[in-house]
Amino acid sequence: MPDTNSEIVDETNRGLLLEASLADSPRGQHATTLTAHLRDAIRNGMLRTGTRLPASRSLAADLGVSRGVVVRAYEQLAAEGYVNSRQGRGTEVAAAPRPPASAAAPSPRPPTNPGLPTGALFPRTEWLRATDRAIAGLPDSEFGYPDPAGLPRLREELAAYLGRARSLIADPGRVVVVNGFGQAVRLITEVLIGSGGREIGVEDPGSVGLTEQLTRAGVACRPIPVDEEGIRVDRLARSGLRAVIVTPAHQFPTGVVMSPERRHALLAWARVTGGLIIEDDYDAEFRYDRSPVGALQGLGPDDVIYGGSVSKTLSPALRLGWLVLPERLVTPVVEAKYDADLGTNTLAQATLTEFLAAGSLDRHIRRAGSRYRERRDTLVSAFRALLPDWRVTGTAAGLHVLVHPPPDADETEAARLAQKCGLDARPLSRYAVATIRPGLVIGYGHQRPDTLAGAVRDLAECYSSRC
Ligand SMILES: Cc1ncc(COP(=O)(O)O)c(C=O)c1O
Repeated sequence: MPDTNSEIVDETNRGLLLEASLADSPRGQHATTLTAHLRDAIRNGMLRTGTRLPASRSLAADLGVSRGVVVRAYEQLAAEGYVNSRQGRGTEVAAAPRPPASAAAPSPRPPTNPGLPTGALFPRTEWLRATDRAIAGLPDSEFGYPDPAGLPRLREELAAYLGRARSLIADPGRVVVVNGFGQAVRLITEVLIGSGGREIGVEDPGSVGLTEQLTRAGVACRPIPVDEEGIRVDRLARSGLRAVIVTPAHQFPTGVVMSPERRHALLAWARVTGGLIIEDDYDAEFRYDRSPVGALQGLGPDDVIYGGSVSKTLSPALRLGWLVLPERLVTPVVEAKYDADLGTNTLAQATLTEFLAAGSLDRHIRRAGSRYRERRDTLVSAFRALLPDWRVTGTAAGLHVLVHPPPDADETEAARLAQKCGLDARPLSRYAVATIRPGLVIGYGHQRPDTLAGAVRDLAECYSSRC
């Protein structure tokens, strides 16, 4: 059997590396550095389960440090479960449940969807200023765990902003800050399941990501068709469902704006059946041709759970969103939020508070909105001029449109050509359960006008010659 000291050197070739690294590390940090190196070596498999580590005295001599440094490192690793130290057997690498690299689960792809905002328009300077103000002004007491409902000042700012920008009836006490609408859905689902709800209506066509998320959380999704006025409330009423998720301001993905009649019918459905409406107000701030259509919640604050986020107005990277809830749901949702993550990052919340209080979000929406309008106009005009039998709809708001190729077109082929020519295009059928006429969902927010115009020009040429 090799002597214990050569074991670590021979098996892992780590001896020299450790020595060199400890030489670089400040004196008081030797134990921490050694611990980190050994931990890494165990995690990445260089030190395998059962490997006996050198005796503390001999490793200390090899590394030119005091024995106490090695003893402290071994004790720390033992406390973390990476090694076992037994009388008479020395210190051995513990069995660690580590999947072989090839069996590792693929990490989920970051979600992509048509209609992402462009990072080029993110208001970096104003956001940085807001961060400075937030950190400078945050009282010491706020550096502990956050209120799971959200920073009280942010809830006030959000209530004011949503009242002003989206016509909500928003009491700060009903606002809960979340990590985007994605988390909001998860929390609502838990509360629904907790009260016996196992089914939910979703728009068809609608968001595939949402349906998948709900299904994974244990809720069955029942597709309800959408027409030119929004969700078919008559079909919802016949379904017997007691909860539905809708996108009234700019239906995803068709872009239909829910008609006033449908809004009233939907609210009447909720009142008559005791049903719950979840309003996903994901992209209404960018409304181009007239004032934004107010949120449904403003007409029925006790029947509607309202959800929104900064993912379209600023960036999905921030993971900041909010819910405005009927009073009876505030406590269960806040409890679910606490269970999920103890609360949203305080510094991010404080920055958004400052950003809102300074009027920066309103300004950014005005500025970015005019750039996005230019992109939308360019795209729509290019289709009209170059592919006049392709109809563009759903253009009123947001960062994507729906383009209908001629009825006899093969949707998959049209999407392939559009993508090839540089458009962020996806077949409408990808979002639909029922068969519908061919369509392409095209996101334009992250492409410059000249790029969009060039892509439609290429598509027109390509389509005529079927390249
Ligand atoms: C239909 C729909 N709802 C909601 C969102 C926002 O989700 P989140 O706030 O989790 O980023 C998106 C994002 O693009 C969306 O497409």
